[in-house]
Amino acid sequence: MPLIAAATGRVPARRPVWFMRQAGRSLPEYRAIRADRGMLESCFDPELVCEITMQPVRRHDTDAAILFSDIVVPLKAAGVDLDIVPGTGPVIASPIRTAADVAALPRLEPEAVGAVTAAIGLLLEELPPTVSLIGFAGAPFTLASYLIEGGPSRTYEHTKAMMLAEPDLWHALMGRLADLTIAFLRAQIAAGVDAVQLFDSWAGTLSESAYEAFVAPHSTRVMAEIEQFGVPRIHFGVGTGELLGAMTRVGTDVIGVDWRTPLDVAAERVGRSVAIQGNLDPTVLLAGPEAVRRELTRIIAEGDRAVAAGTPGHIVNLGHGVLPNTDADAITHAVELIHTL
Ligand code: CP3
Repeated sequence: MPLIAAATGRVPARRPVWFMRQAGRSLPEYRAIRADRGMLESCFDPELVCEITMQPVRRHDTDAAILFSDIVVPLKAAGVDLDIVPGTGPVIASPIRTAADVAALPRLEPEAVGAVTAAIGLLLEELPPTVSLIGFAGAPFTLASYLIEGGPSRTYEHTKAMMLAEPDLWHALMGRLADLTIAFLRAQIAAGVDAVQLFDSWAGTLSESAYEAFVAPHSTRVMAEIEQFGVPRIHFGVGTGELLGAMTRVGTDVIGVDWRTPLDVAAERVGRSVAIQGNLDPTVLLAGPEAVRRELTRIIAEGDRAVAAGTPGHIVNLGHGVLPNTDADAITHAVELIHTL
């Protein structure tokens, strides 16, 4: 598997590429199959999860499939009252703000995500042997931000206020979320995923010192608990240029880099100790084939430079998820180009 080779310091048979949010609204076949079904109910339907996960692999010839799910799926499975609202994202019925709220947060029993592990079983039958299946979970901080704010936020004001004003409560909540994330990742690994990605999408809102004090201990526990299973771990956040070192030190095999930091600079920042993943700006896919070729040529050169200097490998990806109005053919052409450049 080219993706596993690049993640573990071996030479891949071809340059591996997959795209965050490759399964989803950019694909007409996704929009058709989701037309009369809610997002969350779809995530708990094994046949549908398998089909949607396969769609981008069939269409684009990517080197990995990412399990079609959402970071709030384990919270929903555990019994948290929430929904995924189209055009908004996850919305929590009763935001978590007090010690009683934290104490009432339900635990995740592995059986509650049986639909997800069943979907993984179906995918292992269908995926070509060279295509890696990536499982994932939200990191404790990003999950906490949704639970505390009650939905998406630009300022994370309730989250940061709890962190700074009530550190004991904060660490209690983060401990519970780390347990949930560990349970969800363990279930996916036991079911057979080839790699896992921990999404700390919104960690970039924090200073490095806040990240180290309030987030790193919990993400470190997650990464340490799953290390024993030997599947490569990928750690990703948006706008985390200043946190790349800290996010690598929590323990990972691959660090995700967004478009703000050149890959060769990122590789040096993390001491060449881990493989790198990224980092095309998703909007480039809206800018036509010339721009895509130009940007991918630069990114691949930066990745190659990093690998020549001792970085274990480069997995090509976006710096964040595919935008919904991306033309599906632009993605197919980008994958073709990455495999031939
Ligand atoms: O292809 C893939 O990457 C796999 C599927 C996937 C989804 N969500 C499907 C989805 C993955 C990996 C996620 C993770 C996720 N969900 C993250 C971390 C990744 C990131 O983007 O930073 C976060 C922060 C969420 C929370 C979330 N869920 C958001 C912000 C949204 C978008 C809201 C919107 O409508 O614009 C969702 C909903 C969601 N998750 C959709 C999909 C395909 C859209 C819902 C739909 O199709 O109706």
